[in-house]
Amino acid sequence: MIYTIGGIKGGSGKTTLAVSLTVLLSRVGFDVLLVDADNQGTASDFSTWRAETIEDTGYTSIKLSGLAVRNEVQKMKSKYDHIVIDAGGRDTSSQRAAMVVSDVYIAPFAPKSFDMWTLEQVEQLVQEMAIANPSLQSYAVLNKVDYNRKDIEEGRNYIEESEVLKVLNSTLNERKAFANAAAAGLTVMEHKPKNPKAVAELQALFDEIMALTSEETEVNA
Ligand SMILES: Nc1ncnc2c1ncn2[C@@H]1O[C@H](COP(=O)(O)OP(=O)(O)OP(=O)(O)O)[C@@H](O)[C@H]1O
Ligand SMILES: [Mg+2]
Repeated sequence: MIYTIGGIKGGSGKTTLAVSLTVLLSRVGFDVLLVDADNQGTASDFSTWRAETIEDTGYTSIKLSGLAVRNEVQKMKSKYDHIVIDAGGRDTSSQRAAMVVSDVYIAPFAPKSFDMWTLEQVEQLVQEMAIANPSLQSYAVLNKVDYNRKDIEEGRNYIEESEVLKVLNSTLNERKAFANAAAAGLTVMEHKPKNPKAVAELQALFDEIMALTSEETEVNA
């Protein structure tokens, strides 16, 4: 499977989600390639910090941009079980190239923030890319949710009106544990002391993503 984590807004949690998905897939035993297609290079920085913390990151990490994202991923896809692309938060040629080769597109949104205003832009991007890649499945995930449950409902209701993006049931709360773990090149599964709530949220999101793609595999089989 090839996953692109993207969107049209900075700071929504794309890199956090991309590296978490990469690490969790590798912990299950898959051979995973993490593609940093964002010129900011944060996913690559994560891998550098990770190598300093635990030496063997558990996956392969490369940087690509522009059309090379499509061309190189196409060449490498048979060599990996899964490829995860951090496409960054702007409508770039890299993000579009990533969407052309991907099976799944996930855009994180922080509810009750300016992120929501970008929903229409993300929808438009997804619709335009559906012409080049009709089988791309596109999802939204609510990240950085605060403890006020009303936020989730408002955010979810707003995105659920979208006919282009399906909203994942799992959400990640705004928790320092996610930022602290990332700063050490780790996921919350690995970072000590463990935050059981953060671990449970990330595991639920991972399980939901795995279930989506296994359903697709069955449908496509
Ligand atoms: N659920 C969360 N709880 C707390 N902090 C979070 C959460 N998700 C992400 N963060 C933090 O928010 C900041 C932005 O997250 P991240 O880098 O993943 O976003 P991004 O969408 O990749 O940003 P950019 O657009 O700059 O690439 C980081 O400091 C990260 O650790
Ligand atoms: Mg990022």
